[in-house]
Amino acid sequence: MKEQVHSITDEALAAIAKAGSLAELNQIRVNVLGKKGTLTGVLRSLGSLAPEERPIMGELVNKARTQLEAALEDKGRQLAEEEQQRKLAAERLDVELPGRRPRRGHIHPLRAVAEEICEVFLGMGFSIAEGPEVELDYYNFEALNLPPEHPAREMQDSLYINEKVLLRTHTSPVQVRTMEAQYPKPIRIIAPGRVYRRDALDATHSPMFHQIEGLVVDENISFGDLKGVLTIFAQKIFGEDRKVRFRPSYFPFTEPSAEVDVSCGCGGKGCRICKGTGWLEILGAGSVNPKVLAMSKYDPAKYTGFAFGMGIERIAILKYGITDIRLFYENDIRFLRQF
Ligand code: PHE
Repeated sequence: MKEQVHSITDEALAAIAKAGSLAELNQIRVNVLGKKGTLTGVLRSLGSLAPEERPIMGELVNKARTQLEAALEDKGRQLAEEEQQRKLAAERLDVELPGRRPRRGHIHPLRAVAEEICEVFLGMGFSIAEGPEVELDYYNFEALNLPPEHPAREMQDSLYINEKVLLRTHTSPVQVRTMEAQYPKPIRIIAPGRVYRRDALDATHSPMFHQIEGLVVDENISFGDLKGVLTIFAQKIFGEDRKVRFRPSYFPFTEPSAEVDVSCGCGGKGCRICKGTGWLEILGAGSVNPKVLAMSKYDPAKYTGFAFGMGIERIAILKYGITDIRLFYENDIRFLRQF
């Protein structure tokens, strides 16, 4: 019986040492110390021993029991500890994981194109001038050689506030305001800004759009200078391989006047953007009309100059192949995201 107690104890201790989980440990406890456990069985059979042997064996079994309980408890604590560590490791929060980046906004394509255009001219020594959007008829028309009954006023359907005040129909009044402010200094400015015309909104018209005006006034300024400046502009904005073409035109404030085209990116093959012509009309320009210089006190015998005006929407439309001007104003993120 003594041997039996020893072997039960040794086996149980080995099993406890090997146990990998609290459940396993509990099973061992039940198997050995439970009501029907092996050691409990030995205790029950003590009655069959001689009376003098009972206390000796009883003590042996109790010692074994105490030893096993201690071992179970130790192992139990160890397993619980290990379990806790495993859980902690598994549930650890990695605070260094990169977060989800919020999408950054960016500059509106119209503004981006305007800034790009301005950069080109700033690089050629121009500075930026501004004028009001609510403008006097005098600056918008009269001082630009468009007297009240001039038929060319019809080219620009206007939004009048009263008889003398209107929303400017182009950025050209900034030419006059700059000449007034700078006289008699030489002038080399560009003037970006909003302009307004009495047009219904459709795919190609908007009652509000943007222009950039250019004006150079100095001694010895020629039409050749205009050609050089606009060629550099067109090549910087559209590509170094582009050509520029000047077609005779008419504006009351320039003489001679021209419509300026840039060769299309299709290389003249003809495409959707140039409608098969190989050329894109990008702006109006010309030598400053001596009458306009004189009205702003610059002596036409001494000073000459050139001016140009372009629509920013139009440049952006041609540069990116955009098909509808309204896309610029709708703030549809699917459109804006592309730029
Ligand atoms: N102001 C003209 C327009 O809006 C463009 C232009 C500007 C033409 C300067 C010649 C010189 O159509």
